Amino acid sequence: MAYRVPFVDPRTHYKNIKTEVDQAILGCLAQGDLVYRQQLHDFEQHLADFVGTKYAIGLNSGYHALYFSLFAAGIKPGDEVITVAHTFVATISAIVHCGATPVLIDVGPDYNMDVDLLEAAITPQTKAVIPVHLNGRVCDMGQVMTVAEKYNLKVIEDAAQSLGATFDGLKAGSIGHTGCFSFYPFKILGGIGDGGALTTNDPEIATIASRLRYNGEDRETGEYHFHGYTALLDNVQAAVLDVKLGYLPKWIEHRRHIAVLYHEGLRDMADLVIPHFNDPVYFDIYQNYVIRTKYSIDLRQHLKDDGIETLVHWIKPVWDHKDLQLENPGLSETESICREVISLPMSAETTPEHVKHTVQSIRQFFIK
Ligand SMILES: Cc1ncc(COP(=O)(O)O)c(C=O)c1O
Repeated sequence: MAYRVPFVDPRTHYKNIKTEVDQAILGCLAQGDLVYRQQLHDFEQHLADFVGTKYAIGLNSGYHALYFSLFAAGIKPGDEVITVAHTFVATISAIVHCGATPVLIDVGPDYNMDVDLLEAAITPQTKAVIPVHLNGRVCDMGQVMTVAEKYNLKVIEDAAQSLGATFDGLKAGSIGHTGCFSFYPFKILGGIGDGGALTTNDPEIATIASRLRYNGEDRETGEYHFHGYTALLDNVQAAVLDVKLGYLPKWIEHRRHIAVLYHEGLRDMADLVIPHFNDPVYFDIYQNYVIRTKYSIDLRQHLKDDGIETLVHWIKPVWDHKDLQLENPGLSETESICREVISLPMSAETTPEHVKHTVQSIRQFFIK
């Protein structure tokens, strides 16, 4: 079905920057620059500069950034890693694939880790914590870092949804030991397929990640240091991402403007919780604009009937996917969020007209 307000619009997105993207792709093809070439190194340097870290290592997914971060932190079977249940499954799968136990804690009103629960979840087996910066907002990293330092835990930031967001002036992915980014096509910086990156200030972690992604090989010496993975960011992807990175500040401003328009249109609705977090410590980039209501199923259907495409992140708690064999940690906030949230259309192509239709439709629903 063609929506009059699409959730995202990849065709228009491409059309708007077509000349530069085509040049980047064709340049790689014409020069034969397909694997581990200058375009990748340039993108990594520009990404590190943007995030504010010494290193950025281009990978084929955000999942691999998480997994390699855990590997570099020495996480092994028997260890525990604390993270939130309200996240994309990859955060948790990366822990499981290390043979470690994910210890899931609840989130607060901004959908990020309830940091007051962190200390109580620590045991002698706890080795690391993965705060997830969901929807374009950084978790309260002040508190996370204080607790982590007290207990000597590694901090792996899952910043897959928050490139460009800041906490206390520090960019997501620059505060913990590593930052993990995803360039899945519908992320704020989206590739033309899967991609990701790990950011860090630690040269040892950067070296480990660089080797792991290339089957364990040191590219200078040809020595294999690990049984590694084929997990390099493709050179063509890097060339395209480098073009798009130049647009990122503009796209962030656009999303923040769209968020203001939603806020103005929806702020007085009694049965609706909207994200208006007016704390100057946070600079949000609105990967998702998430609203919350007890009537979410009916509202979502009403919006669909009105030609407005929405998504739900996520329809049930991760432990309810029985084949994943995760224990039910009994997290009430995570459970009700799954029943109540809707992500509204939000992208670089979302227009004030789109917001107007969406706001009108939501208001009509609640009048009825
Ligand atoms: C919060 C979060 N963590 C991790 C990931 C994994 O990233 P990727 O899909 O690039 O592996 C995603 C991507 O959807 C995500 O949203």
